Amino acid sequence: MFRQTFLLGILVVWGVHGDFFNDLTLFHNLEPPLQPFPWERPAVGIVVGKQRSVESSPLEKDREPLGPDYRDPVAAGSEDKPVVTDGSKTNKDTPVLNPKKENQGPKHPINPILPGGVIDVQAGSFPSFSSPFGPEFDFPALPGLEKPGSGFGFGGLFGIGDGQRWWKGKNVCIEREESTDDDDDQEDDLEKKNKTEKVEEPNIFSTSIRLSNCFETENKYECITKINNHGVVKTFTVRYKCCYGYKRTPQSGGCVKQGELKPILQTLDDLKLGEFRTLIKSSGLDDTVKDGNYTLFVPSDDAIHDYNDKINDMNKVDLARRRRAVSPLSSKDFVLSHLTDGFVELGDLQNEAKLPSEDDKKSPIRINIYPTHTYEKMLTANCARVKKGNILADNGIVHILDKVVTPATDSIQQIIDNHPKLTTFKRVVGNTDIPKHFKPEGHYTIFAPTDEAFNKLDEIQRQKLLNGGGCASNILKHHIVAHTVCSSAIIGNATTHNVEGINLNMERTLDDELIFEEKAKIVESDVIGTNGVIHLIDTLIIPDSGQYIGNVLKSHHFDKFQELVEKAGMTSELNNFDNATVFVPTDKAFENPHAQKYLEKIGDDKEKLKELIKYHIIDGEIESNDMSNNMKIATKDEGKELRVNLYSTLPLFTNVINRATINCARLIGFDEKTCGSVVHEVNRLLVPPTKTILDLINEDERYSTLKQLLKDTEVEKVLQENNRSITFLAPTDETFATLEEVDRKMLLENKEKAEEVLKMHVLTEVLCCSGVGPHTWGFNSFVPTLGSQRVEVGRTGSQVRVNRAVVTSCDNLATNGVLHTINKVLAPKKPAVATIGGGFFLFDL
Ligand SMILES: *[C@@H]1O[C@H](CO)[C@@H](O)[C@H](O)[C@H]1NC(C)=O
Ligand SMILES: *[C@@H]1O[C@H](CO)[C@@H](O)[C@H](O)[C@H]1NC(C)=O
Ligand SMILES: *[C@@H]1O[C@H](CO)[C@@H](O)[C@H](O)[C@H]1NC(C)=O
Ligand SMILES: *[C@@H]1O[C@H](CO)[C@@H](O)[C@H](O)[C@H]1NC(C)=O
Ligand SMILES: *[C@@H]1O[C@H](CO)[C@@H](O)[C@H](O)[C@H]1NC(C)=O
Repeated sequence: MFRQTFLLGILVVWGVHGDFFNDLTLFHNLEPPLQPFPWERPAVGIVVGKQRSVESSPLEKDREPLGPDYRDPVAAGSEDKPVVTDGSKTNKDTPVLNPKKENQGPKHPINPILPGGVIDVQAGSFPSFSSPFGPEFDFPALPGLEKPGSGFGFGGLFGIGDGQRWWKGKNVCIEREESTDDDDDQEDDLEKKNKTEKVEEPNIFSTSIRLSNCFETENKYECITKINNHGVVKTFTVRYKCCYGYKRTPQSGGCVKQGELKPILQTLDDLKLGEFRTLIKSSGLDDTVKDGNYTLFVPSDDAIHDYNDKINDMNKVDLARRRRAVSPLSSKDFVLSHLTDGFVELGDLQNEAKLPSEDDKKSPIRINIYPTHTYEKMLTANCARVKKGNILADNGIVHILDKVVTPATDSIQQIIDNHPKLTTFKRVVGNTDIPKHFKPEGHYTIFAPTDEAFNKLDEIQRQKLLNGGGCASNILKHHIVAHTVCSSAIIGNATTHNVEGINLNMERTLDDELIFEEKAKIVESDVIGTNGVIHLIDTLIIPDSGQYIGNVLKSHHFDKFQELVEKAGMTSELNNFDNATVFVPTDKAFENPHAQKYLEKIGDDKEKLKELIKYHIIDGEIESNDMSNNMKIATKDEGKELRVNLYSTLPLFTNVINRATINCARLIGFDEKTCGSVVHEVNRLLVPPTKTILDLINEDERYSTLKQLLKDTEVEKVLQENNRSITFLAPTDETFATLEEVDRKMLLENKEKAEEVLKMHVLTEVLCCSGVGPHTWGFNSFVPTLGSQRVEVGRTGSQVRVNRAVVTSCDNLATNGVLHTINKVLAPKKPAVATIGGGFFLFDL
């Protein structure tokens, strides 16, 4: 569970957990990977769900490499989706530029065999999907997939050798289409205008632009040319295909005849599809099929036998229960629901295409295309697998199926409403806003828990769900996918993602059982609706977003924090939150000596413990996107605030915020939704500061020289003002002792000089050590000081450096900022009084 849903997609993918996360690049400014319910725009793209492990050997402690998840900064400002790059493929230190550019015309245009984008079979045999740019970007030219001989798997029609420019040869039929964008219907206007803009984009200075794009698929070669003449866009499409009844040859160009085409009924006889042939005859459809042009999806004889057996069994069972027997379809409707008008070749179909069948209700035949472990793609018609396709007849085409296609007459909502095993599901889903997201023209997959599944829950939770509580919506959304996942597509282990963007596991076990999310068995698969498919499962899966925070802490092993909550007697209070944010320190955070000291001091004082816990909690759900730099957020520990800082650790591209700290504790996991709260993971215990920076200096005996210098200066005042958000870099007595005697004396005696030097030590922003990134490319960040100068801040290995000084003690938190100890006195850049006394201020230059 942790693997899939906790923290962020990236962290998940990288499988890292602990103190050492890569930079959280998707942090700010960018679309978070877990998108809110993208019903309308189902992802089309294979989920690359493979676990990628961090291959760099044990990361040096405190070294923070620029994560390979580092993203092209250009993308940050643009609309482009974030790219998560595959570190194994790219040099870690090099920013990977996002190769995707919109508006370059159709790049992988109308490709009828785009793999469905539904299932990722974890077989590692999709060479072309290992694109380092991830699934969103391009299925690299798909024809490349058709390795010689591999073909599409349907009659070995395609992908043979390479008939270079085969479309110039014999028996190739050419179709031409022309359209002008202006003379389209009103309702299309808006969209067309947007298209027009796109076309114009490449060269706005030209009034006449011609963009051509040609591509080849297994069975056709197509060129689309757009000509923009003073804003009027014309689209010309030329399509070369083998003429009907001909196929591409490996040798010469062009196409050769496939042999004599026979009438469709005879073709069925030749194919030994006797059962279906008999049904056509017995339902009086011989003439219909003979006289028209039809594409037939024909179940094999075995498939029809199985179907009959199943119907008989169901009737027996139901009769035994004295229920209404399941009435099989009339044989006429049965036949017609497998027919569609005209000549439909598989190569021309796209994933999620719907073909109207010839039965009374025109129940659609939904086509899905899935990748498999081999190069072949699997094609299904209403979830029945096409075993052999594109068998041409004189007046139609035959595709052979391994299952009977149940006509899809009801919408998924109607199925839910009427299915005898989904009465609880119907009630629970009815309490949420989910039904209104189901669009008639959409395509959804619902893993619907049966009544039995709900009965397995403990009674309290069951009642809560039945009554619309218990985060029902979060839980059910976990079971809904915004594209069609047929059970045939599940081969071995497969993944898809639900409407929340969370990866889901599916498995076909060696015993041919189907398992959803490792826990639930699919007890009835492929209940086809007009807008999707339903699989019934025997166990409700409760994702983190449906769990109370107490359970989430437990399941993610935030044991120490949980203990603390228990000790403070706040467990049920936390579980009852319905709108809160909790910053949870990792177990490791409790090993920090400061944390231990603090906890020892509190001991068993329940009130103090409560305060501490409350300091980690905020009213309202604050997600990473809601945070801003230097934001102070009020905690439940009244009057006390947490300070948020956002940083870019990529000095070149300061617009990419990739790291956040809360009171200088690094946010290492965030936006985990639980039932009623949002959880962020921090790497330190959050302890409220009580003193100003000046107080901290005054109480530390290592700073006596500093105290002396500060006395009665302007800087001293600044350090005690509570309305500040500053960083002070404090040199210890030891550090001052390393100065040349003459310089030291000068500082102590000349208040003005002292002031000037001290101002160099005050940074006008809060800079936590964990907000400082490494110098990967030799560029540093510059931070302004109170003295209107800048210091250079960076990190080498585990050391944070400011100019040439090394920070020896980090992040001493104060009410007005943070104090770091440094091992060198910083001098103003200009050697102001260099002439006096010779060596003055020559240190640190
Ligand atoms: C066209 O683009 C505008 C803004 O660029 C957008 O608001 C609108 O929804 C788009 N229309 C269509 C039909 O895509
Ligand atoms: C069937 O297709 C052929 C060739 O495309 C066409 O000539 C004929 O008119 C069609 N017949 C019907 C009944 O549509
Ligand atoms: C699926 O993955 C799990 C865990 O890796 C493994 O135990 C199981 O055997 C796999 N199932 C199949 C059918 O490959
Ligand atoms: C959650 O709390 C925040 C802050 O208290 C408030 O603004 C917001 O409206 C609340 N949201 C809900 C759904 O109650
Ligand atoms: C901070 O408060 C002091 C008074 O306590 C005031 O003089 C000063 O102007 C304030 N500074 C800022 C930056 O608001």
